[in-house]
Amino acid sequence: MNATITTTAHYVPEKVLTNKDLEKIVDTSDDWIHSRTGIKQRHIVDKNEATSDLCTEIAKKLLTKRGLSPKDIQVIIICTCTPDYFAPSTAAIVQNNIGASNAWGFDLSGACTGFLYGLETGAKFIESSKYERIMVIGVDTMSSIMDYRDRNICVLFGDGGGGAILEPSGANKGIIDSILHMDGSGADYLIMPGGGSRQPATVKSVTSRQHFLKQDGKTVYKFAVKRMADISKDILNRNNLTGDKIKLFIPHQANKRIIDATADRCGLSEDKILINIEKYGNTTAGTIPLGLSEAVEADRLNNGDILLLAAFGAGFTWGSMLIKWNYSL
Ligand code: ACO
Repeated sequence: MNATITTTAHYVPEKVLTNKDLEKIVDTSDDWIHSRTGIKQRHIVDKNEATSDLCTEIAKKLLTKRGLSPKDIQVIIICTCTPDYFAPSTAAIVQNNIGASNAWGFDLSGACTGFLYGLETGAKFIESSKYERIMVIGVDTMSSIMDYRDRNICVLFGDGGGGAILEPSGANKGIIDSILHMDGSGADYLIMPGGGSRQPATVKSVTSRQHFLKQDGKTVYKFAVKRMADISKDILNRNNLTGDKIKLFIPHQANKRIIDATADRCGLSEDKILINIEKYGNTTAGTIPLGLSEAVEADRLNNGDILLLAAFGAGFTWGSMLIKWNYSL
């Protein structure tokens, strides 16, 4: 038995922060940001919104679209590196918000690869035959850990995400293959140093801005291009597939140049790639489910189509997944 995605949904906060808005905050320009990354704008939360609020909107949409009662959901997996709190989990808050009283669940921290880690985990629950309806949501509220004084990073990220319901399907349908990796020797290149057990919050940690995400952009870029391209190629090769057999490629949206380099290596023409980075920036665990939900709404996938997903992120983490589309709506 395989697991398949039967429903998708997405949500982004209303407020938009454009490159022009950023020009007023840091020493940057719309031209620099767009030419280096492909980003024009990003959505960010209001003061009273947090990750669980975005997840709750997505969860409600998923239930409505699939015609399910909240009580039908057995497990909730929230993929995020910006939870509301360390404890309780964001999954617990979402469970209560939607009234999914039969569900247990947890938060999963895999940074930009988080949603692929979440799909893999949810799929294994389904394959065990013990579970039939798993909700996997990928959302990040990156504005909560952005240093809007640091132009090297604050222009890249936005808030939002999407989700999916996983259910059982026949053999050779749904998630047909995945490759996931992690290399913690890359941890220091993309890290939020403060706030955890290594460096708990103190006045000094706050004033020295340790509670913001920091990166060595050039190193991350170099690894992302190589890892995303290699892992996409690897999964195609081991399934005897070439780019022309792929209906749609949904890559993690970190930088349009990383996406273009990956697509080029895999022989994927531009019409087969979902690119929405211009509107949303990098929403970390949110990019793939957000792109997937938009692709479904735009009728870009039919049952039987082969979908390729690929991601790279902090950790370092990276992965790819092949899905033989088997949607149920
Ligand atoms: N506006 C204007 N200038 C800037 C900005 C900005 N927002 N940010 C940096 N610069 C300057 C730097 O200070 C530097 O100036 P200097 O040369 O005088 O020192 C110069 O621009 C750097 O320019 P480049 O090296 O040409 O920039 P590059 O092409 O490497 O692009 C970028 C930088 C966009 C950060 C790129 O390295 C990148 O995308 N890296 C990946 C980072 C990433 O995506 N992280 C997200 C998480 S991981 C993931 O999701 C894959």
